[in-house]
Amino acid sequence: MMRKIDIGLLFSETGPTAVIEKTQLHATRLAIERANRELAVAGFELVPHHFDPQSDSRLFAALSEKLILEYSVNVIFGCYTSASRKAVLPVVEKYNRLLFYPTLYEGFEFSPNVVYTGACPNQNVIFLAEFMFSTFGKSCYLVGSDYVYPYESNRVMKDLVHGFGGQILGEQYVPLDAGPTDFRPIVAEIRSCAPDFIFSTVVGEATRDFYEAYEDAGLSPEAMPIASLTTTEAELAIMRPSARAGHFTSAPFFATVLGEPQCAQWAELAVHAREVPLNQCWEAAYFEILLFASALVEVDGDAPVKLMPSLRGRECAAPQGLIRIDPDNNHAWVYPRIGRSMADGNFEIIRESKRPVRPDPYLMSYAISAL
Ligand code: ACM
Repeated sequence: MMRKIDIGLLFSETGPTAVIEKTQLHATRLAIERANRELAVAGFELVPHHFDPQSDSRLFAALSEKLILEYSVNVIFGCYTSASRKAVLPVVEKYNRLLFYPTLYEGFEFSPNVVYTGACPNQNVIFLAEFMFSTFGKSCYLVGSDYVYPYESNRVMKDLVHGFGGQILGEQYVPLDAGPTDFRPIVAEIRSCAPDFIFSTVVGEATRDFYEAYEDAGLSPEAMPIASLTTTEAELAIMRPSARAGHFTSAPFFATVLGEPQCAQWAELAVHAREVPLNQCWEAAYFEILLFASALVEVDGDAPVKLMPSLRGRECAAPQGLIRIDPDNNHAWVYPRIGRSMADGNFEIIRESKRPVRPDPYLMSYAISAL
């Protein structure tokens, strides 16, 4: 007799961040199919219940409560923006349920009810800053979407720039649903102040409009590239090819990792690039289901009081490499990489850590020279 385990999925299929969240939903469903084949031996079947929160944080909160109260789920997989995670967090804490969060974020958070499977700042922004400073210089212009992740991530970048004797030449925020006209005055200002590089914390569809406005203004990535943590293959896929080449992103996974020899066991995942652009958030959404499934078998059920201790310290083979959940802070140890975007919509990997880096979400002990 199969034991059915209801799980909740909250990824947007509409709204400004659907472009990336649809890839997370794709990976989650794909991994559930795989997990269910393996879980059958142990007598479990995952039964997903998905709702579209429309890129709206209030809907994320309301739907997480609906999943818990009406669908009796103990575990929810979802959220892209930090605003949506911060809206779901009090709900999972109130009912003592679990949220798996498959997205890079700004750090400075810990909840005993969240497993953080994307990169936190010591695993991406510090790595990226070191590369940009040593390759292009230390004067930087900041452009972001108007919510918590860009503000906090820019705060870290500003500290790094100032700490290394550089200069911030400007800082601008646009609405989450910004379009081309929002970026024209910003790229004009960037042109006149000529920073060494731009740090973009723009997210979702607006990323396309920013990179295209940058190209329209005659700016060139050889002289003044854009560095980002959120411009993935999913955002490159909706840009015109000439606008997407030559910029830099730091992430634990790029689709091109699947072509590397150490990734042979995952190489068959590459066929799914025909369905959605594979990217760091897709990969985290994929492996976190496998991680959850292994804990489910070990504790023989999805009761959060048993699952959480079993997840702390748990290892999981993932396309980026063997990851593990830090027993002290519930964040994943991941492999920082830097990719240079290409006109074909992929990233050429130009730096990668051979070892997983311990998550330090509060940046207690980072040192740029240690990277
Ligand atoms: C994000 O909001 N964590 C990308």
